Amino acid sequence: MKKILATIFVAVVPAIFAATNEVTVIPQPQKIEIRSGEFHLTSETKIAFVGGEAEAQFLAAKLRQSTGFKLLASPISTLPGKSEIDFLLDSNLSAKLGDEGYELSVTQQFVTIQAPTPAGLFYGAQTLLQLLPPEIFSTNVVTNVDWQIPCVQIEDRPRFKWRGLMLDVSRHFYDKAEVERILDEMALHKLNVLHWHLTDDQGWRIEIKKYPKLTEVGAWRTASKLKGPRGEVDDSGNAHPDWANVSDSKFNSQKRYGGFYTQDEIREVVKYAAERHITIVPEIEMPGHAVAALAAYPQFGSDTNTYTTDVKAGVNAGVFDPSNPATFQFLDDVLTEVFQLFPGKYVHVGGDEVNAKVKAATWGKSPQCLAIMQREGLTNVNQLQSWFTKQIEKFVSAHGKTLIGWGEIAGDGLTTNAAVMDWQEKSVAVKTATNGNDVVMSPTKFCYLDYYQSTNYATEPHAIGGFMPLEKVYAFEPIPAKLAPEFQSHILGGQCNLWTEYVASIQHVEYMFWPRACALAEATWSSKESRNYDDFMRRLQIHAKRLDEMGVNYRRASVETNSSSN
Ligand code: ACM
Repeated sequence: MKKILATIFVAVVPAIFAATNEVTVIPQPQKIEIRSGEFHLTSETKIAFVGGEAEAQFLAAKLRQSTGFKLLASPISTLPGKSEIDFLLDSNLSAKLGDEGYELSVTQQFVTIQAPTPAGLFYGAQTLLQLLPPEIFSTNVVTNVDWQIPCVQIEDRPRFKWRGLMLDVSRHFYDKAEVERILDEMALHKLNVLHWHLTDDQGWRIEIKKYPKLTEVGAWRTASKLKGPRGEVDDSGNAHPDWANVSDSKFNSQKRYGGFYTQDEIREVVKYAAERHITIVPEIEMPGHAVAALAAYPQFGSDTNTYTTDVKAGVNAGVFDPSNPATFQFLDDVLTEVFQLFPGKYVHVGGDEVNAKVKAATWGKSPQCLAIMQREGLTNVNQLQSWFTKQIEKFVSAHGKTLIGWGEIAGDGLTTNAAVMDWQEKSVAVKTATNGNDVVMSPTKFCYLDYYQSTNYATEPHAIGGFMPLEKVYAFEPIPAKLAPEFQSHILGGQCNLWTEYVASIQHVEYMFWPRACALAEATWSSKESRNYDDFMRRLQIHAKRLDEMGVNYRRASVETNSSSN
């Protein structure tokens, strides 16, 4: 037995070393077998597809960009003999690979990507790109590179179906091209949900044809909490040098800061995302975080205060009035336009942090609200909020969509079909999943990318507080420890959130996302058993070169050193 083990040791270990040296894919695939030899991509390489044309063309375009080779993808039937990179769509593989898995085989002669779905083919192509030298991610043609791919056999599928990032575009606005940059960066990491936080107190960012003031009024603010010509210093005296990067296009003719997406732009972003197998989940906040909406249409608010978008971060004073049928008509109209723009299943309606004092002072004092509470048998204003969410949920469900909201929507009786995004990690996720509803995990403890990346705040751009090093995000485990196995399938996956009160530029967004979202990708895609921070850090050294080639402004200090020690 000893002898056999020794033989295996000799035979296997060199292969493992070869693997660790040559294959550095993030997120780590489920199964990799390294073989000897390489495939060489040349200007003569032919790409063919049987199904999956869009994914084959996507890869060809990507390869053309950095290699300069005139590579084209063609239907397999039109190519004489066998081609060299094949995309094969085969629904029979779904039992083995699920909805998003793929098999990638690289030999010295052929590369074959097989999958049951176009998404799987896309992910196979993303892995293939990461097997090539990092220069493949260059946005310009690079010469003198041997475009070799190690021979491998990979079988891969994600652990979770929701692998998300939330981008808050309300506190600061990033234009269409900037959002598309983030979508490209997500695609590299097989992240597949962009939760687009489109409305909040400081800005309403989505054109709604029926209510033009939402963007005429609600999309603009003075950089009030920020002082200086461009607000380089905030009202606590903290410097925000990245305001120098904010383009003039984000100021309107009255020198007010902000912006919004036209419906045409939204359609383009949704299409751009779909080409990368990313679903966009729009968020329209209600009944709180509604100041920008109420600045435009005060008649739907619960009090007669005058609201303006020039609010400090964190202030959440205005709430919608649940006793006014016109409020529901307004929200239904807004959502109707949202449904038409976003083809995905989920619509996020916020629900978080509705200021308790404000609720008590408005809903709690309103004869109309009290009448609803009496009629519906509700004993407090929190239950009135649940009732409000249930009304919205009926409307959302009637349109064939599924409502998702922050954990608070589950607080006083969960709506029937709603999914919950748990950010506070109290008992919400366990209760919700045990009740048979789906949950996305996004706990502050592991997933809040607005927090500092170092305990030495002085060396970092000003942030909201906290400490969220790379290692912490890497340790994120989406399945709550107390959730019984039979309900674990209700955990759809995980998501990191970037609130942007202090994040004025897209460069700063990238600094907050990367490499922490690389860790999220691994927490949501790779198997639990394969998770190993040291190995991740080793692969990240190479991966960082890919990000460099793409021009991503990731936090270099997190790659170079153990992030917990700086
Ligand atoms: C949240 O962080 N208020 C969802």
